[in-house]
Amino acid sequence: MEQTGAMPGIVDRFSGVQAEKIVGGSRVSPAYAEQYRKLAAALHHAQRDRGIKSVLVASALAGEGKTLTATNLALTLSESYMRRVLLIDADLRRPSLHHVFQVPNASGLSDGLRDLTERKMTLAQISPLLTLLTAGKPDADPMGSLSSTRMRQVIDDAVESFDWVLIDTPPVGLLPDANLLAAMVDAAVLVVYAGRTPTADMQKAINLLGRDRVLGVVLNRVGQHDRRRGYGYGDGYGYGYGY
Ligand SMILES: Nc1ncnc2c1ncn2[C@@H]1O[C@H](COP(=O)(O)OP(=O)(O)O)[C@@H](O)[C@H]1O
Ligand SMILES: [Mg+2]
Repeated sequence: MEQTGAMPGIVDRFSGVQAEKIVGGSRVSPAYAEQYRKLAAALHHAQRDRGIKSVLVASALAGEGKTLTATNLALTLSESYMRRVLLIDADLRRPSLHHVFQVPNASGLSDGLRDLTERKMTLAQISPLLTLLTAGKPDADPMGSLSSTRMRQVIDDAVESFDWVLIDTPPVGLLPDANLLAAMVDAAVLVVYAGRTPTADMQKAINLLGRDRVLGVVLNRVGQHDRRRGYGYGDGYGYGYGY
């Protein structure tokens, strides 16, 4: 289960600056990768104890690290824990997972949300255990469609075929019906830019998602801006329960 260094087979996808930030990358430090293994372990235990499978990776604001967290969590659960993972790019406003994994975004979630029956959504096979559903081409009301019954159908179908369904989302503050989307999944993790995100925004996000649904808070970039925080090490990453 333990894995250090680069992940064979997918390492080639991550070059340049990505090689330092994405756990499949060749220049990721063991301490950095270890933080994601801790987060994955927390989810693994929550699955064992409570059967959770579908998880929103959320944050109050843009640029807090949702996409990076979702990516590294998906890689860790698939490569280190050997679980079948579907990673969904639901940030229809600013999709980016197709850039991270360097795959086309010709069709994806938003196409499926327009009409689930008409066409199958294209899935990108990143590695034997990691599948990506890119965002696709957004429609006129991309954010509204995330709280539609079709989104629920996508998630319900996905949990039938995968061990984990991880959903990268737009900032909670920009989601008109964050509570409806949150109600479709088993849990949410809230990514917080340590020392930057105002507490009031974080509390608001927790209330919108539903306090019971928030499994934990990921303190991202710990040490990069606020070294007084109690946890998170080295490369600026940590997670904790409670808020
Ligand atoms: N812990 C971190 N260490 C280094 N770079 C980070 C870290 N967290 C986020 N970043 C970088 O900051 C930028 C914003 O992060 P991203 O995951 O795209 O945020 P979001 O999806 O919440 O908008 C990206 O370039 C990302 O690679
Ligand atoms: Mg993002």
